[in-house]
Amino acid sequence: MNKIALITGASNGIGLELARIFAKNGYDIVAVARNEEKLHKACEDLCGYGTKIHALSVDLSRYDEIEKLKQRIDNDGLALDALVINAGQGLGGRFIGGTALEKELQLIRLNVDSYVHMAKIFLPAMIERQSGHVLMTSSISGTSPIPFEAIYGASKAFVNSFFWAIRNELKGSGLNMTLLMPGATETNFFKNAGQANTKVGASQPTKPAEVAERAWYALMSGHEYVYGSDEAEHEGDVLNRIQSESQKAQRHRIISEPDSASR
Ligand SMILES: NC(=O)c1ccc[n+]([C@@H]2O[C@H](COP(=O)([O-])OP(=O)(O)OC[C@H]3O[C@@H](n4cnc5c(N)ncnc54)[C@H](OP(=O)(O)O)[C@@H]3O)[C@@H](O)[C@H]2O)c1
Repeated sequence: MNKIALITGASNGIGLELARIFAKNGYDIVAVARNEEKLHKACEDLCGYGTKIHALSVDLSRYDEIEKLKQRIDNDGLALDALVINAGQGLGGRFIGGTALEKELQLIRLNVDSYVHMAKIFLPAMIERQSGHVLMTSSISGTSPIPFEAIYGASKAFVNSFFWAIRNELKGSGLNMTLLMPGATETNFFKNAGQANTKVGASQPTKPAEVAERAWYALMSGHEYVYGSDEAEHEGDVLNRIQSESQKAQRHRIISEPDSASR
């Protein structure tokens, strides 16, 4: 019987590339995202690797839909060998006078609440079986304040802190846990976040397949964290460890300020 990986945000970008690698390596995939059409298109593509692909349309910013997802997994008797909590969204703009509160709260429900909720309900069965791989997608933004993406940056700082805390609590549980921190990556992320007009949104140098490849290697090698590129690693492990919070914020505003792409 094949191993099973549940991957959120598997219809596009980094999640889709992660699903591709898991499928290539013999895992059945439970692919989760909202848009059914995009999800089915991604699953048709993933079917080419010869493992079973389950497509589940779920809005992870909704508590009740995550509960229904859990019920569905239990009813179908799917025991997860890997859990990839990856679906997230960005939101660019000035906190005062720019972004809408409802969109910010929606972002927190997906980037923060759903990470906690998914871990809370899916980890116990994996711990009981004393084995499994857990990958959480955070961001280089989890290591610095991010002006003009203030709520996004804070949501990823939450994910980092949450990840390190539960990884420590779960030492000896048999789970293998890795934190993925991509830098700017060529996906729909910046367009959806309304940030195509920023320097960071206009550059996106890293391909999602490269990020997924690094994540897979780190996860399967038992590494505690991994960045999406060498540039992100330098930013996270060098610059963001030596600069103060205000220096980091000032450095980042140059690339995340609205209309910075054209300057
Ligand atoms: N791209 C970057 O530069 C970058 C950098 C650092 C970190 N990241 C992180 O990487 C992760 C993946 O982002 P990406 O760049 O691959 O973005 P993406 O191309 O926009 O893909 C996002 C995926 O998440 C799904 N999704 C979005 N909202 C959802 C919701 N409410 N419920 C369920 N699924 C939802 C999307 O499908 P539907 O829209 O159909 O639901 C899609 O499958 C995120 O956590 C992001 O914060 C990205």
